[in-house]
Amino acid sequence: MLLTDDAPLVTPAADPAFLRDILHGLSQQPKATPPIWFYDRRGSELFEAITQLPEYYPTQTETALLASHGADFATAVGRGRAVVEFGAGSARKTPHLLRAIDPCAYVPIDISGDYLLASSAALEMAFPGLTVLPLVGDFNAALTLPTAIGGMARLGFFPGSTIGNLEPDGAVDLLRAMRRLLGDDAMLMIGMDRVKDSDRMIAAYDDAAGVTAAFNRNLLARINHELEGDIPLDAFVHRAVWNDDKARIEMHLEAVKPLRFKVAGQDFSMEAGETIHTESSHKYGPRDSRLLLRSGHWEPVREWTDDEGLFSLILAQAA
Ligand code: AVI
Repeated sequence: MLLTDDAPLVTPAADPAFLRDILHGLSQQPKATPPIWFYDRRGSELFEAITQLPEYYPTQTETALLASHGADFATAVGRGRAVVEFGAGSARKTPHLLRAIDPCAYVPIDISGDYLLASSAALEMAFPGLTVLPLVGDFNAALTLPTAIGGMARLGFFPGSTIGNLEPDGAVDLLRAMRRLLGDDAMLMIGMDRVKDSDRMIAAYDDAAGVTAAFNRNLLARINHELEGDIPLDAFVHRAVWNDDKARIEMHLEAVKPLRFKVAGQDFSMEAGETIHTESSHKYGPRDSRLLLRSGHWEPVREWTDDEGLFSLILAQAA
């Protein structure tokens, strides 16, 4: 534990940005914390488990789209690009794309070095001639691509509808930053989750096995562990609600009784029924996704969706 005169109490390993975001988020009314902090090692494992759940249709649907439209991708994208994947994680969907478009380099970007290096090594084994250049970093911050892909046309790959975890203005900023990073002749392949029946969406974020509830509550465990918190974990329940006005699923942690707790030496209190808003997952109608891409300086050129219209994979050209 670090203890100085007026600095907050934290473990030596505590990330200062995590501390700042959590103290700020818990001091707001209503309380809200950024979803990036879900992904410590346990959180990343729980997210992997979510992607295997029967209720979590985005991963299954997007993977099936990637597996079945390879010939289209080869025609629309062409061969020999450098693929830059944003938030690669375990990169389980990537082989379908790489097989289809035969790129000359692959640059997976992820904030979690452990995951990134393991998945990069696996891809190098599976694609022996491919140059794999992993980049550990936050794709929401300024990045520099490896000089080895300097002269190559790029394809950005941003699957999973991770764009939906940003507020609309943040999503536009990120798309513009990708456009600048990837260059004038770039293309972008992006996954975007569609608006659908609200019961179906809520079930995907409140599964019967309670994995998403554990993923949500793990944030509190991480705060206790890394930021010297004493939040009573069993005094919170997981909530997933559809906010129709904002077209998004919201995840909350709801206090079941009045609470007082400390984080890094700072006092917080909550009423019974008060929540911490931990994540928004925006969903898009077909026109919404095109509008968002155009605002982000990308012109949509092709779109693939499943028979039920659950999820879309969109290919766009730098505008
Ligand atoms: C990473 N992201 C796109 C997921 C989503 O669906 O918003 C995170 C997630 N949260 C709960 N379940 C999955």
